[in-house]
Amino acid sequence: MNEAPSSQFSAESYFATQPAPPTLEHDVAGVRAFVARQRELGRKVVLVTSGGTTVPLELNVVRYLDNFSAGTRGATSAEYFLQAGYAVVFMHRQFSLQPFSRHYSHSTNPFLDLLDVDPQSSDSQSPPNISVMPSKRAELLEVLQAYKSARALEQIHTLTFVTVNDYLWLLRAVSQELSVIGRQSLYYLAAAVSDFFLPRQKMSEHKIQSGKGSLIIEMDQVPKILKPMVDEWSREGFIVSFKLETDPALLIPKARGALERYGHQIVVGNDLHRRKYEVVFVSREHAGQDISEHWLRIGPGAINALGHPKEIEEDIIAELVKRHDAWIAAEPSAN
Ligand code: PMT
Repeated sequence: MNEAPSSQFSAESYFATQPAPPTLEHDVAGVRAFVARQRELGRKVVLVTSGGTTVPLELNVVRYLDNFSAGTRGATSAEYFLQAGYAVVFMHRQFSLQPFSRHYSHSTNPFLDLLDVDPQSSDSQSPPNISVMPSKRAELLEVLQAYKSARALEQIHTLTFVTVNDYLWLLRAVSQELSVIGRQSLYYLAAAVSDFFLPRQKMSEHKIQSGKGSLIIEMDQVPKILKPMVDEWSREGFIVSFKLETDPALLIPKARGALERYGHQIVVGNDLHRRKYEVVFVSREHAGQDISEHWLRIGPGAINALGHPKEIEEDIIAELVKRHDAWIAAEPSAN
């Protein structure tokens, strides 16, 4: 393997020096087959990235830095994309929330609390019957039917990552696979990606020992992967990135900066504490036009057309589907 560059990594030098995850080839083969099938069916395909990446500090990893994200944005959005007829490649942090099962997360709505045991139904030959509590049936049925339908229609394909290295390798490979469907592809980059990492060449093999006082680690900057994505890997794709800030005054300037730097289609800005109630779309209507801002907001206690508590992702996806369709119509794909 080449030496790690001592200064900042470009995407090229990153992939030349950092090892691919061992499961990459297998993962890519799965995505290739999935995309080929969706292409036959004429479906639009969205890549949803979701959850936070980690940065391991040791090769035999005991300690790591993590990026904030439960995966709610990605998992919820994937459901609305499926509802809108998209095929979804759901690339998520291992053990973060997933579409459908997110409704029964172990901490907020434990699955076991839905179930009842009927002791009367047992005898010496068979265990008692287990059933879903009547008060929970309607809601579970709706989620279960949507889940089963997505599976039966082969509409969703799932991939996992843990480290920022897994994420970068997978993102590049999946983008290249999706590029065969050109303008029919949408990239929804909601994952919270580490900005700094420890190159493999600088990592301690074994657990870092304590007892020597404070620990000082110098990390390198993760290459900005949106640039090669827009310019090389997914030139015809409709690319939506997210910008998370905690200082509301920085949200618009940072989102505008990202759009100018990378030249993709939309940056969705969200403030950490307001992210479930408002987001801002920062985009240019046409190439060369001024950048504009479009806020989406839902009020507290908002209810959707089906009578359920409204999730802002419903409106985000509806707006994106409209814009993606306009993008497809604007320039016919060569496919
Ligand atoms: O999962 P939840 O708990 O619901 O939280 C959702 C969320 C707040 C994490 C999500 O809505 C969100 O904002 N995700 C993006 C977080 C963020 O700001 O990441 P970033 O600043 O590191 O990256 C901004 C964009 O650049 C991202 O789309 C990322 O894919 C991309 N990026 C990041 C780093 C890097 N080296 N290259 C990149 O291309």
